Amino acid sequence: MKVGDTHYRSIWFDEGDDQVKIIDQRWLPHEFRVVPLVSREDFATAIRDMWVRGAPLIGATAAFAMAREMKNDPSDTNLDEAWEELHATRPTAINLRWALDQMRGLLRGLPEKERAEAAHVRALEISDEDVECNRQIGLHGLEIIRKIAAGKKPGEPVNILTHCNAGWLATVDWGTATSPMYHAVEAGINVHIWVDETRPRNQGAQLTAWEMDSHGVPHHLIVDNAGGHLMQHGQVDLVIVGTDRTTAHGDVCNKIGTYLKALAAKDNNVPFYVALPSPTIDWTVRDGVAEIPIEERDDDEVTKVQGKLLDGTVTQVQICPDGTPGGNPAFDVTPARLITGLITERGVCEASAEGLAKLFPDRVVNGQQKAAG
Ligand code: MRU
Repeated sequence: MKVGDTHYRSIWFDEGDDQVKIIDQRWLPHEFRVVPLVSREDFATAIRDMWVRGAPLIGATAAFAMAREMKNDPSDTNLDEAWEELHATRPTAINLRWALDQMRGLLRGLPEKERAEAAHVRALEISDEDVECNRQIGLHGLEIIRKIAAGKKPGEPVNILTHCNAGWLATVDWGTATSPMYHAVEAGINVHIWVDETRPRNQGAQLTAWEMDSHGVPHHLIVDNAGGHLMQHGQVDLVIVGTDRTTAHGDVCNKIGTYLKALAAKDNNVPFYVALPSPTIDWTVRDGVAEIPIEERDDDEVTKVQGKLLDGTVTQVQICPDGTPGGNPAFDVTPARLITGLITERGVCEASAEGLAKLFPDRVVNGQQKAAG
């Protein structure tokens, strides 16, 4: 998407510099910084410390990391060590394991001298595939928005609530939850977005609000607790969120707080959709609440917030008494029964094993979903 007049992806390979580059998201919205990632440690730190974040982008970053590793040392030992180190960076987003498995699966079958080139090509493909998946998600999601818009009075916007940042910054481009919004704007549909701030790291306030502003999408920032009230008062027509891991049965793991939005949406008959590219589906997991590992992050993220002082300095402030212990589960699981539908690159389906099997018959063998690959 565009930043000013320039089209950016969130990660790219700069041929001139022979370097992988990212937008360092820790500084947004106040500063736009592009940094190169060179060593394995650079890539691992960028994922762990959330210079890049969002499940699809984490996957793409890991793929580029493996490609760079193969340039340095294409041995099996290095392949396995890199897989382990990168996999340990963030436990919940399944796209990380998906991308690492894609790379290792391909490279294991090749002689060492061919690995660097093959890995580079596959990493670029994984990026491009993500962009195309998200474009398709946008087109399918657009039809949902179009139907709601058709029932509106002239001039009335379709009010969409989103949580966290499942925008282009969370993917390689377009975003998952935001892609239908961007497509709706392009189609001339009047949309208005409620952007949840998304404590503790405020990805909504810092990233989604920035994206919406950059692309001229009408929006308001709301506190995380406002969603239920707005739904009770008919001010939310639709919720669209992203996901970090969706089970074979349609349970959705996403940023902490998503579950509460889904409960409020159910209570108020507001359609609740989840947008995802298929690498976010974990075909091995059946019960999301019981089986998905939930990342516990540093309590500093809860006890402090980052913001801009009036003099323009970006800084952190503590918001609680000295020594207050923080608890910081980063994700929660929304059971499939609370979800109206899953918006994937292949279309929209029910959040259930049957719904997913209809869209992904290639993942179903003798009535059982295939686990690997
Ligand atoms: O901790 P983050 O910022 O990596 O988490 C990202 C999310 O949870 C997003 O909401 C998103 O839905 C998943 S990525 C499209």
